[in-house]
Amino acid sequence: MTVQRVAARTIPFTESVIREMTRLIGETHPHDGINLAQGFPDFPAPSAVKEAACDAIRADINQYAITWGAKSFRDAIAAKTATFLGLDVDPETEITVTCGATEGMVASMLATVNPGDEVVIFEPFYENYGPDCILADAVPRFVPLQAPAWTFDPDQLAAAFSDRTRAVVINSPNNPTGKIFTRSELEMIGRLCERYDCVVFSDEIYEHLTYDGEEFVSPAVVDGLRGRTAIINGLSKTYSVTGWRVGYIIAPPDLTTAIRKVHDFLTVGAAAPLQEAGTVALNLPASYFDQLRRGYEERRDLMLQGLRDSGFVPFVPRGAYYIMSDIASFGFPDDVTFAHALTAQLGVAVVPGSSFYSDPVRGRTQVRFAFPKRLETLRDAIARLHATGATLILPN
Ligand SMILES: Cc1ncc(COP(=O)(O)O)c(C=O)c1O
Repeated sequence: MTVQRVAARTIPFTESVIREMTRLIGETHPHDGINLAQGFPDFPAPSAVKEAACDAIRADINQYAITWGAKSFRDAIAAKTATFLGLDVDPETEITVTCGATEGMVASMLATVNPGDEVVIFEPFYENYGPDCILADAVPRFVPLQAPAWTFDPDQLAAAFSDRTRAVVINSPNNPTGKIFTRSELEMIGRLCERYDCVVFSDEIYEHLTYDGEEFVSPAVVDGLRGRTAIINGLSKTYSVTGWRVGYIIAPPDLTTAIRKVHDFLTVGAAAPLQEAGTVALNLPASYFDQLRRGYEERRDLMLQGLRDSGFVPFVPRGAYYIMSDIASFGFPDDVTFAHALTAQLGVAVVPGSSFYSDPVRGRTQVRFAFPKRLETLRDAIARLHATGATLILPN
């Protein structure tokens, strides 16, 4: 008899499609590939933040921080949350520092969801939420967002809730669609959460990237969701330090107590010197966030125009740094074939749309472009994409 040496829970995991596309561009275009698949900047992090990290290491802040986060960093998180969200949070009982928002989401789920409980997820969705549910033995219930405005049907939302529902994942501004959930949408979700006594995991990693004057509303400040929301956030996107792996969770004290237990045994804590640098980052002046937003809006507009000029039909993102785009007009059989051809033939890596859906058919005519790149990188990508319609061929 062959004994299965690996745990059953690992079997449904597939290689991350985003990392697969990153590998493919490295293989096919080792010197001149442009990776618009993975969402990380190709420009530097703010000098003040980098200096603070170096200073902290030199000052020998090199041993374990308190497991739920260095006090100075938690205080800075509380102060920034008061300024930007108008929320008073207690750094002693409501904040946990984690290894990125990635750990923040899975630690929150493990701390609050029992095996078999259901978790409502809007789709298309950020690919980690599926495996997070598997790790927590939770059952995802998907609610479709409809292009081009990525709205949801209130009846479909209501039908996704039942006595088995324990939590809802909200990611606003959203990866991959760029949707920003409106206050009235959040209130609708709040009414259902109150009725079924659910918590919200609010992934706010793109909170500062909003365009066209759109306002980001945190679920934590919306009627019905106050007191039942775990905000999940981090340094990765706002400060262009995706490799630092520093995130945080803001949640009511009872949830935080459970989250801290899970976090302690998962990772003990996030890098101590980088938490010191995080304190400096969170205290950057308001002008930093305005400039960040303006820079990304310029990249978005450049990319939207370039995509339209190249025959794509992009869905305009209102936030975050991705563009979902329709590719039906290119006549490829599916998104995966198209993304592979684009990567291999034009040297521009993108993510096939199907990887953001529970049913791949829904993403068959979509791909996602990431635009956290220097303008010259984006211009180079656009120059290549102009050839899509004329030269891209179906591989045999
Ligand atoms: C919606 C969303 N949440 C979380 C993350 C990862 O955040 P972190 O680097 O803090 O783990 C990403 C990264 O792409 C993301 O798009």
